[in-house]
Amino acid sequence: MKKTVLDFRNMKENDIGISMITAYDYPMAQLAERAGVDCILVGDSLGMTVLGYESTVPVTMEDMLHHTRPVCRGASQTFVVADLPFMSYMNVADTLRNSGRLVQEGGADAVKLEGGRAQIHKVRALNRAGIPVVAHIGLTPQTASQLGGFKVQGKSLDDSLVLLEDAKVLQEAGAFMIVLEAVPETLGEKITKSLSIPTIGIGAGRECDGQVLVVHDILGLFERFQPKFVKQYANLGPLIVDALKQYDQEVKSRTFPEEKHCFSMEAEAAKILLEQP
Ligand code: KIV
Repeated sequence: MKKTVLDFRNMKENDIGISMITAYDYPMAQLAERAGVDCILVGDSLGMTVLGYESTVPVTMEDMLHHTRPVCRGASQTFVVADLPFMSYMNVADTLRNSGRLVQEGGADAVKLEGGRAQIHKVRALNRAGIPVVAHIGLTPQTASQLGGFKVQGKSLDDSLVLLEDAKVLQEAGAFMIVLEAVPETLGEKITKSLSIPTIGIGAGRECDGQVLVVHDILGLFERFQPKFVKQYANLGPLIVDALKQYDQEVKSRTFPEEKHCFSMEAEAAKILLEQP
C-alpha cells in the first residue's frame, strides 16, 4: 500500500530506515516498486543521468512532467516525490503553480525544493495549499556554483549552525521531510535528532532517518563520476554492452532472428504469395 506522510513520521519514531531511490521512467519505477522501496524521487538529476547535461540547471518543468508521469504510472502504489527544477520556484506564485502541475498533471504525491531559510514562505504556501513538500539542504546541486562546486557543506561550526537552523525553520514552515546532501555525519546526526520530521541523507552519514541514492549510480549506469557516498549494488553497464554486442554480431551474421522469432501464414496462402511476380 502507498505510504503517507504520516507513515514516514511513524517510521522515524520507530527507527525504521526509510529507503528512497530516484527513478525517471516507467520500467525503473516498476522495478523500484517491486523491490519495495518506500519512496521514489523523480530527481532533477535526470538532467545528468538521462538527458546528458553537465548539471541539473538546464532541466525544465516540461522535462520534469515528462518523466514524472511515467514514474507515477509505473509505481502507482509507491509515494512519489518530484523535484521542482531550477528557476521554477522563484516566488510563491511560481512555486504554487509549478508544484500544482507536478501533482495534478504529473501525478506526484509531493514536491521537493532546494534551499534553506530563503524558501520558508514557499514551503508555508505549499503547506497551506495542501501540497506535501520535501526540503533539501546542504549541497544543493541547482546552486552548486554559488557553493563553490560539488563540495561537502557545513564543515565549519558556523556553517553547520546555519544548516541546523535552516532545517529547523523548514520543519516549522511545514516541510514533512528533509533531504540532507553531502554534510558531515555529525551534522546529519544533530539535524536528525533535532527534528520531528524524517531526514533523508545522501552523503550525510548513518544517523539520518533514511537514505536516498541516484538509481543510475547504484546500478553502474552512470560512468561520468562516482561520489564517495555512493554504493554500487550492481554493475549493469558492462552487462548491457555485452548483450548489445551479441545482438549486433547475431544480426550481422544472420543468426538472429531464428524460426521461433518469426510469424507463419497458411501454407496455401504462402505458396500463392511466393508465386507472385
Ligand atoms: O535530483 C536528485 O536526484 C536529488 C537527489 C540526489 C537527492 O535531488
